[in-house]
Amino acid sequence: MITTTDLTKVYRTRDREVTAIDGVSLHVDPGEVYGVIGRSGAGKSSLIRCVNLLERPSSGTVTVDGTDLTALAGRGPRAGKELRRARTRIGMVFQHFNLLSSRTVQGNVELPLEILGLTRRARAAKALELLDLVGLAEKSRAYPAQLSGGQKQRVGIARALAGDPKVLLSDEATSALDPETTRSVLRLLRDLNQQLGLTVLLITHEMDVVKSVCDSAALMREGRLVESGKVSDLLATPGSELAAELFPLAGAASGAGRTVVDVTFHGESAGRPVISGLARTHDTDVSILAAAMDTVGGRQVGRMRVELSGTGADADRAIGYLRDQGLTVEVHDPRTAPSADLADAAPGAADLVKE
Ligand SMILES: Nc1ncnc2c1ncn2[C@@H]1O[C@H](COP(=O)(O)OP(=O)(O)OP(=O)(O)O)[C@@H](O)[C@H]1O
Ligand SMILES: [Mg+2]
Repeated sequence: MITTTDLTKVYRTRDREVTAIDGVSLHVDPGEVYGVIGRSGAGKSSLIRCVNLLERPSSGTVTVDGTDLTALAGRGPRAGKELRRARTRIGMVFQHFNLLSSRTVQGNVELPLEILGLTRRARAAKALELLDLVGLAEKSRAYPAQLSGGQKQRVGIARALAGDPKVLLSDEATSALDPETTRSVLRLLRDLNQQLGLTVLLITHEMDVVKSVCDSAALMREGRLVESGKVSDLLATPGSELAAELFPLAGAASGAGRTVVDVTFHGESAGRPVISGLARTHDTDVSILAAAMDTVGGRQVGRMRVELSGTGADADRAIGYLRDQGLTVEVHDPRTAPSADLADAAPGAADLVKE
């Protein structure tokens, strides 16, 4: 639904050049919620602004719903007719809502409908329908200043849906909201994704957002996509930075005669007693150094750092058993592991599990 090919964006100011996007090839499937995560300055906003041609990319192409937007003339407010038409099919939600304070809630939602040339009556009917969809029907006559942050963002989302878009772009839509309100706005985006078949590309710096709503995710650093894929696949990829960020594990490296491994549970393996099975069948002691479980995309997943007694062939057999159970196992190389004090790193988690 959204494809960028080798996209770059270089900002030129009088005295310097900044390469904000550096060869990004991104693919978002129809009906997906796709999250792009990265630190401040990584180029996330630049990327999303290039996807709807608010910024014209320096090179590369952007295709949305089969239309090569980069081939259409103009950019930003000076977009040509065809680009403007294509852009009505792409909704955009902003961190700071960008509502007009002088207009009512309904007036804000009607704004893009005025630009589309709808009659007064058709605008009102459509705006009320959209406000109902985002749960704000009774606030249609209120002004933005009379709304909470979460309600303002719902208005922003209703406005973004005015052109019946197939794609919704969201730049940090929940960053200005408290955790509870964030959850309700994310639930709304998820519902819209499912009810309307809307494809959502969202930018965030919060891992919790990726965990709770994204089907796929990409990690962006210094203008590049350093990792991307389905969240469930990334979690099962040894060495994945995104997986490590989604489920951060602390814990010491192996000492003499012990092997530390990171185990990822997903799908049905998450519900099986694999650790007690390992201890029983391989006569090994297993210490849990750190663990994190959560629901990602409606499925139970988790990661655990465990210490196995034994090294070499004994450890290999134990690791083989875990892999046979459908788990992803990564051996935590003591040479690369930071030497943290176990008690500090994972207080209370270092109890021996014995069967
Ligand atoms: N209009 C501009 N002119 C010049 N440089 C810019 C412009 N917009 C962004 N940049 C630079 O491009 C880089 C990427 O900025 P961008 O806003 O895309 O980052 P971001 O990942 O969205 O960060 P944040 O999480 O803080 O919003 C930064 O170094 C920024 O200073
Ligand atoms: Mg940004």
